[in-house]
Amino acid sequence: MNWLIHDYRESDLAAVVHLIDTTAELGQESVFSLAECIGALTSRQPAVVAVHQGVPIGAALACVAGERAWVMRIAISSAWRGRGLASALLVELERRLVAARVGRIAYVLPEEDLLGEGLLNAGYTRRPAVAYFEKVEPLHGPSANLLEDLGGRFLPSDLWAKVAGMEAEKDLIERRVVLPLAQPERAARHGVRPPRAVALFGPPGTGKTTFARGIASKLGWPFVELLPSRLADEGNLAAALRDAFARIAELERVLVFIDEVEEIAPVRTEPAQPGGMHGVTNELLKLIPGFREGDERLLVCATNSIRSLDPAFLRPGRFDYLIPIGTPDTAARAAIWARYTDGRADVDVARLVEASELFTPADIEHAARIAAQAAFERDLAEIGAGAGDPRALGASTEDYLAAIGQCRPTVTPAMIDQFDADITAHARF
Ligand SMILES: Nc1ncnc2c1ncn2[C@@H]1O[C@H](COP(=O)(O)OP(=O)(O)OP(=O)(O)O)[C@@H](O)[C@H]1O
Ligand SMILES: [Mg+2]
Repeated sequence: MNWLIHDYRESDLAAVVHLIDTTAELGQESVFSLAECIGALTSRQPAVVAVHQGVPIGAALACVAGERAWVMRIAISSAWRGRGLASALLVELERRLVAARVGRIAYVLPEEDLLGEGLLNAGYTRRPAVAYFEKVEPLHGPSANLLEDLGGRFLPSDLWAKVAGMEAEKDLIERRVVLPLAQPERAARHGVRPPRAVALFGPPGTGKTTFARGIASKLGWPFVELLPSRLADEGNLAAALRDAFARIAELERVLVFIDEVEEIAPVRTEPAQPGGMHGVTNELLKLIPGFREGDERLLVCATNSIRSLDPAFLRPGRFDYLIPIGTPDTAARAAIWARYTDGRADVDVARLVEASELFTPADIEHAARIAAQAAFERDLAEIGAGAGDPRALGASTEDYLAAIGQCRPTVTPAMIDQFDADITAHARF
């Protein structure tokens, strides 16, 4: 043994930080961040440093909470790995912890860490069936301000799960879009490049915006919607887009959503119309390649009218997938009706499904609201003002059927034909 181990001193700080910083990559990382380690060192939590010829080569640090101590990090300079230094540091650290009346020492390691074996030898028991869960709260600090400036935000984490029915679309989007982005390394092993831009197209109210928000929610990425109307307020839409994309590039991860994209990237006519969107479309075409270079970012564009988009805008290389979102089929309508009738057993969902052919999720939501309102008003009329009868169940199957009868589906058979033609001409997934 040609090292010396001493208690951590203030003058060791820079060297220890350097050690922690440079060894994190070597799998010596734990669940404690560098900042937390520095916090522990500066607040004089127990720590030891190994020195060889005056040069720090390893450090071990802990934090104590009551009777329990957490080993925060054992950092060993790469040249000194595999020589028993980790065990030696741990023994010294433990001595300090025991002196501080600690009764239980815990160390959370990455699953595959080599140190595991040494810990078993040192008398630690691996707690079976323990999984470490961690929730990282969305950012604070400068990125948060940037996000706020862009009108972006983190969405609730259950939006994906709340998309009712639409299993075919959900499954496709999950496999093509969500999973490669969520598991980029696994995807890369199979040569799959995660998508950077996708377009969702389909009739109004079928759930394009809902899916875009669902993807952001599922990935846990912030959602930034670029609203051309708002950007245009700044005067020059092309310049405002350029500026927005420059700011978006500073975010670590982000889903950017542009709704009704046909308004800013319509087919370019020759010659360019004065006051037309020619320049804006050109600008977007230029911005997408730069956007695509970053990891952990996705552009989702939605449109009701894919045929009016400029073909150059949609070509492969710019957009990875062009995914149709159609009206819900029988099974999907059943799931959506079940959602909007709160899964109540006394409602005959099958009859509602049958009566609501061609209804979009938006139409179903609207009809359910009309039925609920009718039930509420009947309750008021029958029982009068006050708290009402707490046992009143809400809308009945008849209320829902009456509401369906009052609503005209947004999507007409002609629109379905057009959508089918669009799928043939444009869909890519
Ligand atoms: N699968 C679904 N389950 C439950 N509700 C849904 C579903 N899809 C959409 N909705 C509801 O229907 C309404 C319309 O959905 P959304 O705005 O996503 O449609 P859209 O395709 O973006 O419409 P538009 O083309 O008009 O922009 C929303 O209120 C949404 O909550
Ligand atoms: Mg929408």
